[in-house]
Amino acid sequence: MTKTEEIKKLQQIVEDCDKCTLRKGCQKVVFGAGNPEAKIMLIGEGPGAEEDKTGMPFVGRAGQLLDKILEACGFNRKDHIYIANIVKCRPPKNRVPSPEERAACLPYLKEQINIIEPKIIILLGATALQGLIDPQAKITKMRGDWIKFQNICTMPTYHPAALLRNPRLKAPAWEDYKKVVQKYRELVNHDHYSAQC
Ligand code: URA
Repeated sequence: MTKTEEIKKLQQIVEDCDKCTLRKGCQKVVFGAGNPEAKIMLIGEGPGAEEDKTGMPFVGRAGQLLDKILEACGFNRKDHIYIANIVKCRPPKNRVPSPEERAACLPYLKEQINIIEPKIIILLGATALQGLIDPQAKITKMRGDWIKFQNICTMPTYHPAALLRNPRLKAPAWEDYKKVVQKYRELVNHDHYSAQC
């Protein structure tokens, strides 16, 4: 099976999931999107209102900022990126997903990672960092430094929604993305072009 086929098969399973109560309260399952052959995987927290309506990750304001950042890095979602979330269904009123909800959904995310086999993972915000790496981890302490997840180079950085709330976080976040571009040149494509770094 190709990665695209494997991802589609997993998506079917996730669409039918009822392991936690979030599915009952949301409109659409936001499974993930992008290129299943991508070498960079982005992981967010969970769907918001726009994502819940459309079934697509990061399509609201935070997603638009994320697209601008990716563009500055010379990346686009269609070719370079696959995006998924810690939980696939929108928590009511955008609350942070509970430990039980995360635990129910985490095997799906791990399966997505296993299928995609990214060279680089970007963890967007505290929930992604804590959900995948360590429930006690602090994004303010750990952002900007490479860590390994299953031997994959993993960069925790601020969630784009945090950058919208506090624009002073944009400069340190940009340092993190510059490291990602460097790593991409090292591991994937020496000639990767980016106008800004
Ligand atoms: N925030 C997230 O963490 N994920 C989305 O898909 C959208 C907003």
